[in-house]
Amino acid sequence: MQALIALLPGDGIGNEVTHEARRALEAVAARFGHDLRFETALLGGAAIDAAGVPLPEETLATCRRADAVLMGAVGGPKWSDPNAPVRPEQGLLQLRKALGLFANLRPVAPHPAVLGASPIKAELLRGVDIMVVRELTGGIYFGEKQRSATEAHDVCRYTVAEIERVVRVAARLARARRRKLTSIDKANVLETSRLWRLVVDRLAAAEFPDLAVEHMLVDAAAMHLLRKPRDFDVIVTENMFGDILTDEASMLAGSLGMLPSASLGEGPRGALYEPIHGSAPDIAGRGVANPYATILSAAMLLRHSLALETEARALEAAVSAAVERGVLPADIAPAGVAPAGTRAAGDAVIAAI
Ligand code: IPM
Ligand code: MN
Repeated sequence: MQALIALLPGDGIGNEVTHEARRALEAVAARFGHDLRFETALLGGAAIDAAGVPLPEETLATCRRADAVLMGAVGGPKWSDPNAPVRPEQGLLQLRKALGLFANLRPVAPHPAVLGASPIKAELLRGVDIMVVRELTGGIYFGEKQRSATEAHDVCRYTVAEIERVVRVAARLARARRRKLTSIDKANVLETSRLWRLVVDRLAAAEFPDLAVEHMLVDAAAMHLLRKPRDFDVIVTENMFGDILTDEASMLAGSLGMLPSASLGEGPRGALYEPIHGSAPDIAGRGVANPYATILSAAMLLRHSLALETEARALEAAVSAAVERGVLPADIAPAGVAPAGTRAAGDAVIAAI
């Protein structure tokens, strides 16, 4: 098949990790006889420096033209003054909104070979396989915002339709997995959460009677994720809870550097794939960042945007093989073992392909 991929390296280690993901995709394309083309565009701080805005028109046009978007990370100290008029992160938020990417899939499945990289006891981690579905274009991230010298507010708002569409995505995923759906909210305090709960129950009864659906308060869920992570199958939650819980859940997999994500809209076209980690300015440009999360995001791209399931599995298996061979970047390498650089990790994946 032929496909166009918009490549948005962004800032910091985004450049290094997307470079390896592109090489891995090219290796998959060569092996399976596909024609993948790439168009690189600016996003985040790099775009602010070059064009004055975090999401230039040209970048958005490239993404709209593409079959899928592969992104690195945005942000950095250079642009993080709280009084700055524009921030790199706005570019990513605007892009998610403009492309209508309301469902953010974040799978968390610790690799058996690196259970030791997690601060959690290995016996709690074995068999953990969680799919977090985070609502991505609503809630407090996108509500009205105001700040004066003495006061500030961020409005959290959800419509029934916004809740329904993301819960449907999560419920369908649960149906193809272990048929358990955990909806996480703060219904003891927030009106948006009380609406969220009602909608989940109504939808579950009407469309997904075959699923076991449970509700959990977000504070309890934060604790439960570390105490009994095996209990979870599919989690669905609103934007900010999902942001926070997935950083926490990444520790089950040993590091943020192992977690991919897919951000999906209504159709298969124009979805966005990115590691859940940030731009890590402290290690940027040194060739030590872990590229596996971005390469695994590229595998999700093959699966969800290009419907290339066999190729997606081949790429995931190649990352597994690299990890099993002990090619471990600094964030997951055990003490006393020489860590692999970004390029070496990419090479190991390509060799396995
Ligand atoms: C993420 C990131 C973003 C978010 C930031 C960079 C805006 O933390 O994708 O999890 O909060 O959604
Ligand atoms: Mn985050």
